[in-house]
Amino acid sequence: MSARPLATTTRCAPTRRALFAAPLALAACRRDAVAQSSLADPAPLKSRVPFPVGTCAMTGQLDDPRWVRLATTHFSQLTPEWEMKMEYILSDDGSYRFQAPDRLATFCATNGMRLHGHALIWFSQGVKAFAGLDQARFAAAYDHYIATVAGRYRGRVASWDVVNEAIAEDGNGLRDCHWSRALGQDGYMIRAFEQAKLADPGAVLFLNDYNLENNPRKGATFLRTVERLLRAGAPIGGIGTQSHLDIDIPAGQTAAFMRDAAAFGLPIHVSELDASLNSERRLDTRSPGQKLARQQARVTELAQAFSDLPAAQRFAFTVWGIRDTDSWLRRGERDDGRDSPLLFNAAGRPNPMFGALADGFQS
Ligand code: G3I
Repeated sequence: MSARPLATTTRCAPTRRALFAAPLALAACRRDAVAQSSLADPAPLKSRVPFPVGTCAMTGQLDDPRWVRLATTHFSQLTPEWEMKMEYILSDDGSYRFQAPDRLATFCATNGMRLHGHALIWFSQGVKAFAGLDQARFAAAYDHYIATVAGRYRGRVASWDVVNEAIAEDGNGLRDCHWSRALGQDGYMIRAFEQAKLADPGAVLFLNDYNLENNPRKGATFLRTVERLLRAGAPIGGIGTQSHLDIDIPAGQTAAFMRDAAAFGLPIHVSELDASLNSERRLDTRSPGQKLARQQARVTELAQAFSDLPAAQRFAFTVWGIRDTDSWLRRGERDDGRDSPLLFNAAGRPNPMFGALADGFQS
């Protein structure tokens, strides 16, 4: 029988091996605990990169301490998700209200965060308020709206999405809308940029659109439009690519658009990143792990392409929400209760997408 020390208690006394192993096991546990805690509480995104990292916000979230903690820890810029748009500010009777955007501007100032104005002119908004105006009054009301809103936030916003989503859905030309019918297809855009420049000469003025990576034809039409408007004298100061990524697009397509956009030498704003795991395919037999892998690959590619831009062209990198449950994709009939398009889960813990983004920024 081995000369093992007798049990000093009724329980099994540790063997020599166990005593030696214990500190190693404890250290491993501690490392694992640290790893888990750093996963649970990762280093702030904004401290990892030399450019602003943003998210969208609405005033209801300012009353959620968990949202505020995540926002002020990881982000250095905010974009009002909807309360700085015409749909909030301009009532159908032509009256204005500013309570919500004012509160968001104050939150940013109080927390040392940059504010990105979104959006002055959008095809889908203002239809009722501008209905029935003759050409002259329409143009005057258009100029007045931009001057009033951009003028109010002069010195409080760093930038504006002056015109949002002007390119046709399929990328074939420009979108027809009440603005283009009244002021001309390029005319309404040039006018908006000119009015915004007059109202806030210090703001960086963006043309912003979506599916520019997902649909190369739309991306090309967008960039041709930027070129044409610049030639016409529009004071476009930046390119906004929303980056609501389709995780099923081919590798390289995202980086290719970023390279083409960078050729203008203008600041670029990744303005609304999210990457839904839900596919347009009717029958998607892939496992959650397979979809997560595609999401991570596309997000890393975007982050890397943005990080590779010259410093002067890295305006900001904005995600469209903090927690999955903050996402527009998790509201109303879109909500399947499972989609995970953002960096943090409902509990505020990092999703795999957080690591994919951090990897892209670091590589
Ligand atoms: O919070 C109010 C609620 O109090 C009210 O009862 C309800 C019904 O009127 O409205 C709620 O506000 C809604 C808000 O989202 C918050 O859910 C607004 O009506 C609704 O219009 C708004 O939708 C926003 C949408 O743009 C239109 O402005 C989404 O939040 C926002 O995520 C979405 O963001 C757009 C970008 O601006 C442009 N790129 C595409 C992106 C996604 O569609």
